[in-house]
Amino acid sequence: MDLEVRISEIRAQLEAETNTPPACPPEQQRRWERLRSKYVGREGMVRELFGIVARLPADQKAAAGRRVNEFKAEIEARLNGAAPAPVAAGPAVDKTLPGRAPEPGRRHPVYRTWEEIVRLFQRLGFDVVYGPEIETEYHNFEALNIPLEHPSRDAFDTFYVRKPYLLRSHTSPVQIRTMKERKPPIRVIAPGKVFRPDKPDAGHSPMFHQVEGLMVGEGVTFAKLKGVLDLFAKSMWGPDTKIRFRPSFFPFTEPSAEVDVSCFICGAKGCPACKQSGWMEILGSGMVHPKVLENCGIDPEKNTGFAFGMGIERIAMLKYGIPDIRLFYENHFGFLRQF
Ligand code: DAH
Repeated sequence: MDLEVRISEIRAQLEAETNTPPACPPEQQRRWERLRSKYVGREGMVRELFGIVARLPADQKAAAGRRVNEFKAEIEARLNGAAPAPVAAGPAVDKTLPGRAPEPGRRHPVYRTWEEIVRLFQRLGFDVVYGPEIETEYHNFEALNIPLEHPSRDAFDTFYVRKPYLLRSHTSPVQIRTMKERKPPIRVIAPGKVFRPDKPDAGHSPMFHQVEGLMVGEGVTFAKLKGVLDLFAKSMWGPDTKIRFRPSFFPFTEPSAEVDVSCFICGAKGCPACKQSGWMEILGSGMVHPKVLENCGIDPEKNTGFAFGMGIERIAMLKYGIPDIRLFYENHFGFLRQF
């Protein structure tokens, strides 16, 4: 067969196969692969042309060989570049890729825990109240029986804005605001951000969250505090959870107690999470100091109250087994997706 005739036939066929733009980039890729093997591959049409060359008389072979190589280059050029880019106008959308499921947002573990705590106390009849994050020394300290220049201030290291304003170092000032606004009986829960100039480490963050609880009225006893916190612990960690009160000191409560829950990881037998003690500290609490009631215009002869305050991150860490408080603020998806 005549070489030039066959070349024109192949060229015509190639043009016919490449004159429509491919539907999309992967289609272009697939077409390129298919045509390359069909035309210039090991079993392809160019190979057939070399077969024709081989059968030519010896004096024509060199020229014919060059001719076929030229044509091969022409085919490759057409396959590579000449095929028009399919979706030159508009964004490159690959309709053949599997869809990406949208990932809806989800609640941050701190706010999940916040809501869980708040909802529980709401069911017990507590109102949710809020106070400002920028507080006065009076509300953050003095009214809570933490006098100016008193060493007990040191326990509440504080970010000052400009005296007398500061970033509240606990949610306890919301107790003061509430008692000044409302008359007993009072039952409130006050969640929010608090700030302390602590160097971040596994257990500290300069900003974290607390929930404050306050109940004031006639006949509000330490026994009631125990009952409420026992319920809280059981609902948070399961019905077998036990709590224990350890005597402690806070200027705004008398008596004061720190509260531990039985370690739900080892069942109070002792493990690394509870430092072999079987118990984990969850909050501070006590009976509202008579002076604090007085500071708010409540008669301590008639009324008594209990209060408690807990760190939400700490509760979440204990609930979910999170080893480092900084994980809450780094917001890596790998961490957040687990909740
Ligand atoms: N405000 C305390 C703190 O930040 C926690 C606390 C202790 C709150 C005892 C209370 C309480 O209401 O009664 O460390």
